Amino acid sequence: MKNYLNKQSMALQQGAIRAMFDKAAGMSDVINLGIGEPDMTTPTVIIEAGMKALMDGHTHYTPNAGILELRESVAGDLNKRGLKYDPRTEIMMTTGGMGGLVLSLMVMLEPGDEVLIQDPQWLNYFAQVKFFGGIPVPVPVKEENGFAITAEAIEARITDRTKVLMLNSPNNPTGAVLDLDELKRIAEVVRRHDLIVLSDEVYSTIVYDDTRHISIATLEGMRDRTVVINSFSKSYAMTGWRIGYAAGNQQIIDKMIRLQENVVACVNSGAQYAAIEALKRPELASEMTELYRKRRNLVVDGLQSINGISCLKPKGSFYVFAGISGIGVDDVTFANELLEQQHAVVIPGSAFGEHGKSFVRICYANSEENLSRAIERISRYVAGKR
Ligand SMILES: Cc1ncc(COP(=O)(O)O)c(C=O)c1O
Repeated sequence: MKNYLNKQSMALQQGAIRAMFDKAAGMSDVINLGIGEPDMTTPTVIIEAGMKALMDGHTHYTPNAGILELRESVAGDLNKRGLKYDPRTEIMMTTGGMGGLVLSLMVMLEPGDEVLIQDPQWLNYFAQVKFFGGIPVPVPVKEENGFAITAEAIEARITDRTKVLMLNSPNNPTGAVLDLDELKRIAEVVRRHDLIVLSDEVYSTIVYDDTRHISIATLEGMRDRTVVINSFSKSYAMTGWRIGYAAGNQQIIDKMIRLQENVVACVNSGAQYAAIEALKRPELASEMTELYRKRRNLVVDGLQSINGISCLKPKGSFYVFAGISGIGVDDVTFANELLEQQHAVVIPGSAFGEHGKSFVRICYANSEENLSRAIERISRYVAGKR
């Protein structure tokens, strides 16, 4: 039989995160700090709203863009953050943040278009851009700069093929959150070079202490140059419901809705009703963030006390990106040996790009008990290297 796969599919590979899970699958007593999702169940009131909607007969297709009541709630929520969008034409519901990322790339990219992506970055961006014919161009970020992407580093990589800048603040894997000054500088570069920003804000509710999440779309001249991607997955512990949204430039959103019609028709109906309830209960997201803040402190304090490990205190999301160059092994060896010898899963930093080498990503969306035990295991592993 001949090979029926196209070139893009032939290049698809299992991501490094899934590969670590497969390796851990046969082992006992494994503490998994690899997976990037909330450990808690979706709050009961949200589950009940989804169940009630299904019992009330909301079991049919919805409009391709999502039910209007939900889009209006999303518009209200965005408005609180300084973003004004028309729910009828500028907001659509998507299958998680990923649905929004993929649809927007599909309607925007021509073969050979360059897309600027920070390095290290959540690995799916690179695969998505490549699959849709784009060329991912890594923009390095540095630990000494708090892992923040800078306008200078972005501008240095712009060519006449550059079309899109993907921003992700709060960030996976580094926990960095971009401040207003840096965002203003980035926005100036974006306007001057006539780029469009895909602003992935799926961790927008998970920021700590006095850090504020600011969307680049709120800055002067950026509203129509930005597609905001957001999701209920991380903020309301709803990863399995697969619901998120995209908001922005009407021309782009319109084509994304047309494409959604042809791809999945609409987002799961029950999940849309559950999301309406979630948006009525922002305190539920705040409570989870408070829990993550305590866990972050526990993990950062623990890691900082281990000789040879460096660890910044992240301002948002639920990851720490810990430096391991003082241990004398590379990131892949560190993660593999830690799993084999101490049964704890962390993800090698190089899985997120070349500039992630000599770091590992640790997800602290886990119980304090597990986190404390994991820190002990990491400490024992590192002590064995001395
Ligand atoms: C940066 C980032 N964007 C998007 C997503 C996708 O989330 P979902 O599709 O569940 O909303 C993730 C998930 O890990 C992520 O880390």
